[in-house]
Amino acid sequence: MQLEELYQTIILEHYKEPHNFGEIKNPDIEERGYNESCGDDVKVFVKLINENKIDSINFIGKGCAISQASTSMLTDVLKGKSIEEAIDFIENFKSMMKGEKDFISENDFEELSAMKGVLQFPVRVKCATLAWNTLKNGLIKYQNKQ
Ligand code: FES
Repeated sequence: MQLEELYQTIILEHYKEPHNFGEIKNPDIEERGYNESCGDDVKVFVKLINENKIDSINFIGKGCAISQASTSMLTDVLKGKSIEEAIDFIENFKSMMKGEKDFISENDFEELSAMKGVLQFPVRVKCATLAWNTLKNGLIKYQNKQ
């Protein structure tokens, strides 16, 4: 299988069966993101342990395959991180999606490198980063409230 096909397969699998889809009751963080140009809409929910460690992230919303798959991956890869680690990771991911940094494949989550395929389509980068920006906004708002 060609690498591009592999990327497409991973993205489609996440799109068809997104991980951690659905609301969390009484979340510590809830944030909505909206892409005006296409109408895609995402809401992320975070449950924290000890006001800092991410216990779980869920999402609801509608969007293209890339945005939904990227959000599904986000919910897996950021689980267990502290708020600070998650914000750093999001910044790194955004730099990778701008082509400013090499695409690292996290040891524990290689699937994220499927997003590398999106770099060939600059207009779709916002699809891949919608939920990541949304979550970052939610995390920063939470930090500022503490
Ligand atoms: Fe709307 Fe991808 S087309 S986020």
